[in-house]
Parts: sequence; C-alpha cells; structure tokens
Amino acid sequence: MPLLENHIAVVTGAASGIGRAIALGYAREGAHVVLLDLNEAAATEVAGEIRKAGGKADSFALDVASHDDCIAVAKKVADQVGRVSILVNNAGINRRNAFTAEPDAVLKDWQDIMAINLNGTFNVTHAFLAPLRASKGRIVNIGSIQSFVHVRTPNSPAYTASKHGVLGFTKALAADLGKDGVRVNAIGPGLIETPLNAHVRATNQELVKIFIDHTPLGRAGKPEDIVGPALFLASDLSSYVTGSIVMADGGYRAI
Ligand SMILES: NC(=O)c1ccc[n+]([C@@H]2O[C@H](COP(=O)([O-])OP(=O)(O)OC[C@H]3O[C@@H](n4cnc5c(N)ncnc54)[C@H](O)[C@@H]3O)[C@@H](O)[C@H]2O)c1
Repeated sequence: MPLLENHIAVVTGAASGIGRAIALGYAREGAHVVLLDLNEAAATEVAGEIRKAGGKADSFALDVASHDDCIAVAKKVADQVGRVSILVNNAGINRRNAFTAEPDAVLKDWQDIMAINLNGTFNVTHAFLAPLRASKGRIVNIGSIQSFVHVRTPNSPAYTASKHGVLGFTKALAADLGKDGVRVNAIGPGLIETPLNAHVRATNQELVKIFIDHTPLGRAGKPEDIVGPALFLASDLSSYVTGSIVMADGGYRAI
C-alpha cells in the first residue's frame, strides 16, 4: 500500500523547488495533495502535472504572511477537499544582506523574512489545527542548517533567526500536541539547488565552493533529496518520532 494512502496533505510554497518536489512525492505515495502558494499560476501547473500522472491534487492561492487568508483557505480546503491530515510548512524566502548593510534594507529583510518564514509557519498551522488534531495528523516544518548555525557564507541574521524560530516552534508544538496524537517534526536542508538560490549560484561560485568544501558528500542537494525525509516524517514509518529535526544537508552540520 502506498505510504500516504487516504491522507490529505497541504504543502505551502508548493509551486517551486523543495515544496514542489514534496508535493509530487506525496502524490506518488497516494496522498491527495493541496498546493498552496503565492504564485497561483505555478501552483496550478504543478497540480495539473500531478493529476496528469494519475494523482490527486488541488491548488489555491495563499500568502502565508496573512493570518486571515490562512483561515479563509483552510475553510475552502475543508469544504472543497476534505480533512487535512498532513501539513508541510515549506513556504520561505531568503535574502543575503548583512546586519551592517543599508539600514532600510536590513529592516525590510527582517520584517519580510519573519512574516513569511516564521509567522507564516504559525499562521498556516493555526489555521489547520482543528483538522490536524481530529486526524491525529503530522506537521513537517522546513528548517535549515541555519536552525542551528549562521553559515560561513554571507546570509541575513533574519533568515538564521527565522529558522531557529521554526525549530523552536516545532519542539513547542510537539510538546503541546503529542497528547492529541499529532506529531510535529522538521527537516534541515543544506544547500539545495532551487530558484531560491539560483542567482547566487550563478553569480557567486566562490560562495558555492565554500559551502561544498564544508559538505562531506561534496555536492549541493537537489529538491528530490528532501522527498525521502518528508515522506518518512509524514508517514507511519516515523510513528514514534516527534519534536525532531532530520538533517538533509550532505553532512554539513556534522563537521
Ligand atoms: N534551497 C535551499 O538551499 C534551502 C535550504 C534550507 C532551507 N530551505 C527552505 O526550504 C523552503 C523552500 O525553499 P526553496 O529553496 O524550495 O525555494 P523556492 O523559492 O524554490 O520556493 C519557495 C516557494 O514559496 C513560495 N512563497 C514565497 N513566499 C510565499 C508566501 N508569502 N506565501 C506563500 N508562498 C510563498 C514561492 O512562491 C515559491 O513557490 C524555504 O522555507 C527555505 O527557507 C531552502
């Protein structure tokens, strides 16, 4: 039997990169996938791709930074799709201004990154809490190696702070929701080749080299490298796992 048969899985930021790969992977394992993204057209396209391959998928536009929009979309999903049992909080952004950069840019980075990466994770989880509790669901939050460290390459303190927050929220929710049978875990990707970092990979080979030199597996990851951990944490394979983070970083954090 497929690993996620009879599950309805919401994936935020599912139009691109890691979220898209997880949505495709969940659909292959039998889940009905609900793709939520700011980029509605691209999310619709991925949902179409899933259906064309014989899977089940719907898509809705969502800005995870808006609590009201999250509540509204959760109602639409309940009415039009059904009871959600898996939530992947994946939508996220990054910018690489140092804290000492131009003050207005630093302030905007902080506000935008926190609004999407951290508040967005809260907003979507809050909106889908009732079906997740009722289904003894699973929540998978996308953290980072920056849930632990500020990496050796230029990066914004806001991103590091947001991903530390995502890990803290993961542990706090695991403690709060464990008695309801809801499991809450995170994934910590290393450098994964997605549109999020396409510009920096194209224009700053030195930065990529610093990263890869510190990665025991000696390569950057692909979005597909995150699918296995995401399936593990959403399925019964991880029935006694909660409050954990699975690092999928080529070993970056191990050395
Ligand atoms: N790529 C990496 O190296 C890497 C490493 C560690 C963690 N991550 C995390 O993985 C997650 C996915 O990143 P990715 O690399 O696939 O990026 P990506 O840019 O390819 O995809 C991100 C998706 O999120 C969507 N999104 C952005 N803001 C949104 C909002 N306000 N509301 C709804 N959707 C929104 C975008 O439209 C896009 O489809 C992020 O949380 C990111 O921080 C990425």
